Amino acid sequence: MAKKSAATQAKAAAKSGATKVKPATAKERVLITGAAGFLGSHLCDRFLQEGYHVIGMDNLITGRLKNIEHLFHRSDFEFHHHDVTKFVHVPGKLKYILHFASPASPIDYLKIPIQTLKVSSLGTHNLLGLALEKGARILVASTSEVYGDPQVHPQTEAYWGHVNTVGPRGVYDEAKRFQEAITMAYHTYHGLETRIVRIFNTYGPRMRLNDGRVLPAFIGQALRGEDLTIFGKGDQTRSFCYVDDLVEGIYRLLKSDYAGPVNIGNPAEITIKQFAQEIVKLTGTKQKLVYKPLPQDDPMQRRPDITLAKKLLKWQPKVDRAQGLKITYAYFKGLSKTELNEKEHNSFEGYVRR
Ligand SMILES: NC(=O)c1ccc[n+]([C@@H]2O[C@H](COP(=O)([O-])OP(=O)(O)OC[C@H]3O[C@@H](n4cnc5c(N)ncnc54)[C@H](O)[C@@H]3O)[C@@H](O)[C@H]2O)c1
Repeated sequence: MAKKSAATQAKAAAKSGATKVKPATAKERVLITGAAGFLGSHLCDRFLQEGYHVIGMDNLITGRLKNIEHLFHRSDFEFHHHDVTKFVHVPGKLKYILHFASPASPIDYLKIPIQTLKVSSLGTHNLLGLALEKGARILVASTSEVYGDPQVHPQTEAYWGHVNTVGPRGVYDEAKRFQEAITMAYHTYHGLETRIVRIFNTYGPRMRLNDGRVLPAFIGQALRGEDLTIFGKGDQTRSFCYVDDLVEGIYRLLKSDYAGPVNIGNPAEITIKQFAQEIVKLTGTKQKLVYKPLPQDDPMQRRPDITLAKKLLKWQPKVDRAQGLKITYAYFKGLSKTELNEKEHNSFEGYVRR
């Protein structure tokens, strides 16, 4: 039997004199690109929790359906397998667009540099056009990489950055810088409602174990009983933000009325060597630390200045590294042997043409 809509039920109830049923308001619709990726999948969860209808879009170039398969039974979730560098059309209304599609690990963008350039340039252009057509507010995922190898520490939003346009990381960094510029141009020229989040290193469940990022790389090596590889001397620093904190910051930024870029990250800074030692302790591995040459243009220092986010969004990270690492380690420990031994990204060298 066909289901009656809430409005029909309410009318019937009113006619029969029964208690009035309030018609359910249609859910507001959100488009999330990169939905099958690490951050996109967590954003889908959050927006569904908040009562939105979520449309996830992804071409699965670095993402996995496994990250969102728990959502496929829901009537308030739909998935579009689509490359956002091609024309993007979504029928119906859209309240918000969150553009998170883009390879995000250095190994990924070394492997697929042209796609990386396209998704944050052509892809962003397509999504800004869609936002304009729908009258939707759009938030784009920028990155701390717009600061390059920074000469200002910690990095504030006012710092313009230090990027090598033609280095191996240039394809990602410059595409993200272009993304910010075109997003701001749509804001100033078309009056579009735009938000820009500059995300610093984030970690948590659903990262790919072998995507080349330092945290899953160390945990993967520990779980496989391999030595932990440190690039350079290990005195370069990073700051790691747990994914739930990041998602909260993004949610608040989207709802704010601020169109300039905002740093979201955890300012607790650690050297890579100390971080490797933390992983050794956490996993109880008996392996040692081994050293390899530092890849070109690897940033030496990374730490967000989050004064603006604190003031504007009343946001700051709540999950400390010990807590976040425990949850993340439990996730990686639960992976199958096949996933644990996938060799997709064990070394940078194979992807760099000299
Ligand atoms: N994770 C971090 O620490 C971090 C830091 C800074 C910025 N970011 C940004 O956040 C976003 C998500 O990063 P992530 O860590 O979840 O990476 P991810 O690789 O796990 O997810 C990216 C997703 O985008 C999809 N995608 C890529 N190109 C696409 C295209 N042309 N069309 C449709 N889908 C496409 C991939 O298949 C993948 O599912 C990226 O824009 C990234 O630049 C992430």
